[in-house]
Amino acid sequence: MIPVLVTGGAGYIGSHTCKVLAQAGYRPIVLDNLVYGHKWAVCWGPLEVGDISDRACLDAIIACHRPEAVIHFAAYAYVGESVRDPGRYYRNNVAGTLTLLEAMRDHGIAHLIFSSTCATYGIPDQTPITEDHPQRPINPYGASKLMVERMLADFGQAHGLGWVVLRYFNAAGADPEGELGEDHDPETHLIPLAIQAALGQGPRLEVFGDDYPTPDGSCIRDYIHVADLAEAHVLALTYLRNGGASRALNLGTGQGHSVLEVIAAIERVAGRPVPYALGPRRPGDPPALYADATKAQALLGWTPRYPELDTIIEHAWRWHQGAGTKGG
Ligand SMILES: NC(=O)c1ccc[n+]([C@@H]2O[C@H](COP(=O)([O-])OP(=O)(O)OC[C@H]3O[C@@H](n4cnc5c(N)ncnc54)[C@H](O)[C@@H]3O)[C@@H](O)[C@H]2O)c1
Repeated sequence: MIPVLVTGGAGYIGSHTCKVLAQAGYRPIVLDNLVYGHKWAVCWGPLEVGDISDRACLDAIIACHRPEAVIHFAAYAYVGESVRDPGRYYRNNVAGTLTLLEAMRDHGIAHLIFSSTCATYGIPDQTPITEDHPQRPINPYGASKLMVERMLADFGQAHGLGWVVLRYFNAAGADPEGELGEDHDPETHLIPLAIQAALGQGPRLEVFGDDYPTPDGSCIRDYIHVADLAEAHVLALTYLRNGGASRALNLGTGQGHSVLEVIAAIERVAGRPVPYALGPRRPGDPPALYADATKAQALLGWTPRYPELDTIIEHAWRWHQGAGTKGG
C-alpha cells in the first residue's frame, strides 16, 4: 500500500478522504494536532498526534512512514475568527504550511494536494466562478489560503513540487455508510446548524439576510457532498502520479441553493420544522457563490456522485441523529 501523509486527517473532510484513500489502495498516515479533529475519525491508518509547524515532528514522521505524497487539510477555517485574530491564521495556515513544504522539499516528497477555498475569490464579478476569476479575498482566512497557493507555485518553480490546489465551495453531508460526519466545535456551517435546531439540540437558526438580489432574498451557495470531495482528492493524486501538470481546480456541483431552500429541504427530509429567524445581512457575505467545476471534471474524470441537495441532507441528517454524538 502506498503511504500518503494526510495533515488534518482527523477533521471533517480529511477523515472522509482517508476512507476513500484506503479503499483505493493507499495507506493514509494522519498527522493532526487534534485541536479540532477527533481520534475516533481516524480508522484507516495510523494517527500521529503532532503539529505541521513542528519540523522535528515532521522529520520523524516522514522518516518513519516514507510517504509518497501529502494531502494537506490542516488549517484553521473560521472566517469570523480570522478577522478578529489574523495572526492565528497566518501563523497556522501560512507559516505552518511553509514548514511542511520545506520538510517535503528536504525529504524529496514530490506531490501535494492542497485544500483551498472559494473564499480566495472574494466577492465575485460573475457566477458561475471559473478558476481564472480574479482572487481578491476579503478576510484573513481567504488571504491565508491564497498565500499558500502562491507558495506552491514558487516551490513548484524552484524545486519541482507537483501540486493540485482544490478550491472547495461548501462542503456538506456525511459518509453515505454512516461511519463519519461533520462534528465541528464550534459549528458555523448552515446544514449542521439547521439540523441541530430541528433536533432541538441547538438554538433557533439565524438566517443572515432576506433582501439579497436572489429569487427568495436569501444567500445562494454551492453545497458539495464530502464524499465527492474525498473522491476528487484521490483522483487528483492519481493525476499527479501520472505526471499531470500542477493545477488549481474548483470543486462544487455548479448548482446554487439558497438558505431558505436548504431549510425547506431539511424540513422535507426530517419531517419536522427547522425553527429559524430572519436577521440582518452579515458583512462580507456575497449574494451568490457557485462553481464552474467543469475543469475538475474534464481533467480528473471527476463526477459528483451525490449532487442532489436532498441526498446531501439525508446523509447529514442520518449522521446527526445517530453517530453524530460519537465525540461525546
Ligand atoms: N468545510 C468546508 O466547507 C471547507 C471549504 C473550503 C475549504 N476548506 C478547507 O478544507 C480543510 C479541511 O476543512 P474541514 O472542514 O475538514 O476542517 P476541520 O477543522 O474539520 O479539519 C482540519 C483539521 O486540521 C487539524 N489541524 C489544524 N491545524 C493543525 C496543525 N497546525 N497541525 C496539525 N493539525 C492541524 C485540526 O485539528 C482538524 O482536525 C481546511 O484546510 C479548510 O480550510 C473547508
